[in-house]
Amino acid sequence: MRPDFWHQRWQRGEIGWHSDAINRHLTQYWTALTPRPDGRVLVPLCGKSLDMLWLAGRGHRVVGVELSRLAVEQFFRENELDARCTDLSPLPFSRCAVDEVEVLCGDFFDLSPELLIAGDAGGIDVVYDRAALIALPPPMRPRYAGHLAELLRATGTSGVAAESLLISLDYDQTQMTGPPFAVTDDEVHALFDAAFEVECIGSFDALSEHPRFAKRGLDALRENIYRLRLRT
Ligand SMILES: C[S@@+](CC[C@H](N)C(=O)[O-])C[C@H]1O[C@@H](n2cnc3c(N)ncnc32)[C@H](O)[C@@H]1O
Repeated sequence: MRPDFWHQRWQRGEIGWHSDAINRHLTQYWTALTPRPDGRVLVPLCGKSLDMLWLAGRGHRVVGVELSRLAVEQFFRENELDARCTDLSPLPFSRCAVDEVEVLCGDFFDLSPELLIAGDAGGIDVVYDRAALIALPPPMRPRYAGHLAELLRATGTSGVAAESLLISLDYDQTQMTGPPFAVTDDEVHALFDAAFEVECIGSFDALSEHPRFAKRGLDALRENIYRLRLRT
């Protein structure tokens, strides 16, 4: 998916993935991870997800990364958060932040460890991936997994094994074109096994929760929850 695809989706308001509720798998499975109480959470491809506010409400510092300026503006405006935004040029990013929540507006693949920890922000303890991996077409996924591991290795907190909560979808890819794309269990292992210990900690029949995908032709849909732990 090229950046233009996502910019157009935001311009047209075609953001069917966005939810006005906190993700139920996040609230259920967060305790399966072991972040420090004030640990920092990276939310790649964050959109305007309210899950970031839930994480901040748990005491975490949150850093989202999002391509669309519109999404970032809507996130802060709709939640009545008076964010301060700074243009970070010549880096291809701007940063909007308020209290414990910041969003870096730019391309995740351009994100460097130095930018992530700039200003003594500290290392990343946990990644929260809901609809990020599955937003990417197959050729981009190895790059995504590799970049994530590299960022975590470079910004990790000593003595803390960085973790990730990954919420993924699997379905028959011949029945519907992505995004969201189907990512099989085998692919999750192929993508992450080299750098992470990978464990599937939940798996759900999800079609009834997502009727729009039934309308697009799916006759089965599974939502799989993974805990990834960075290998030391
Ligand atoms: C399917 S949406 C999911 C958003 C969010 N995770 C959620 O659960 O609501 C994918 C988001 O990733 C953003 N995006 C796509 N490619 C990106 C990239 N390379 N870097 C940063 N954001 C990206 C899109 O603009 C879009 O908001």
